[in-house]
Amino acid sequence: MKIKALNGFKDIVPGEVELWQKVEATARDIFARFNFNEIRMPILEKTELFARSIGEATDIVEKEMYTFADKQITMRPEATASLLRAYIQHGLHVQKPIQRLFTIGPMFRHERPQKGRLRQFHQLDVEVLGTPNPRVDAELMAMGAMILEELGITVSLEMNSLGCPICRPVFREALLNFIDDRKDALCEDCARRSKTNPLRVLDCKNPTCRKQVEEAPSIQEHLCSECDEHFNAVQGGLTQLNVQYSLNKFMVRGLDYYTRTTFEFITKDLGAQAAVGAGGRYDGLVAKLGGPKVPGIGFAMGLERIILLLQQQEESADNTQIDIFVAGLGEKASELAFPLAHKLRGEGLFTAMDHEARSLKSQMKQANKVNARYVLIIGDNELEKGTAVLRNMESQEQQEIAITSLSTELLSIILPHSTGGNPAQTHDN
Ligand code: HAM
Repeated sequence: MKIKALNGFKDIVPGEVELWQKVEATARDIFARFNFNEIRMPILEKTELFARSIGEATDIVEKEMYTFADKQITMRPEATASLLRAYIQHGLHVQKPIQRLFTIGPMFRHERPQKGRLRQFHQLDVEVLGTPNPRVDAELMAMGAMILEELGITVSLEMNSLGCPICRPVFREALLNFIDDRKDALCEDCARRSKTNPLRVLDCKNPTCRKQVEEAPSIQEHLCSECDEHFNAVQGGLTQLNVQYSLNKFMVRGLDYYTRTTFEFITKDLGAQAAVGAGGRYDGLVAKLGGPKVPGIGFAMGLERIILLLQQQEESADNTQIDIFVAGLGEKASELAFPLAHKLRGEGLFTAMDHEARSLKSQMKQANKVNARYVLIIGDNELEKGTAVLRNMESQEQQEIAITSLSTELLSIILPHSTGGNPAQTHDN
């Protein structure tokens, strides 16, 4: 029996690896432009590191970690905790008061594998340690947006503030009261975690829970004055940098370490795995892990999700439509078709033709392959009658057009609805 890779673990083979290299090179180039330095950490860490940072009551720590040696050792499920451990261990704050660090590598979570969700996946991770400045929050989001934009990926940026240890407990209390009245209508997971981690109820994907929390209190309205000021300043920064964003009061993130700003880059094109990247501020975390009292902020992007989006785009580029395929059958008809195709292209139609005067069947196949909306058939019979046949490939309807007015007729039928979709007018064989 052949041995295959484990479920949720993937090879990256030649042909695909080039796309990974392109994405990594683009990200590295932009990290350098934003003055980030690379750091690399080991894959195994003490389990306690993740329990203390990500949080005992999170899905990741509760059920998704690959642990060994009596659960004392864990394969990192994310990069932030390891990076902070290394930052503290090597006293990097002493070398530079503000560290801007990035790392790229594999992470491990025992999740149910799906499109865009793996058990070994890769993150581009960045962290800025040592500054509470809201400009850095805006700058990081702008950098994330720049990476995706340069790769040609369209996302929307959603942002929220989760407040701080002063204002969040007040909000938590208001939310608990709200949830308490609706407890019975919540899904099993939410009913269980409503006490330990009530904020997670806000971003539950279950439609019933969503409905229940529609009117839930908003954390944005419970921020203390300092957090509110920070939140406003971040938004001001994003506006200055011309970064589009929207506020999402339901975004709470699945890791417990966040304070104030949280954000996600969301795509519509990957079904349920909508987050291409996500992050936020974690001002108390370095101290909690035994380091200096410095604030921090960062984000991570999922490389597999970026690659999937690029591959989907490549496929849909192959599928772009052309307006018309001109099928000349026989030498005489091709003689007429050749300058006609050129004229149509000159007028703006996305046009393909076959120069080999192949059979009608073969030309129809080619027309299907290039997704032609119309096929113009010019054969000996048609020539004799002084007409050509235009077939609408979608409706299969056919109409005869007089040869003498071919180009004008074709343009008036097709040009108003041109696909404008295929940049390469070179489908000729
Ligand atoms: P996260 O939201 O858990 O945050 O993951 C960040 C990104 O990693 C997600 O948006 C997604 O693109 C990708 N990702 C997560 N899980 C999987 C998976 N199973 N398969 C494929 N891709 C996945 C963090 O990990 C935080 N450490 C981010 C951060 C950095 N916050 C501050 N600094």
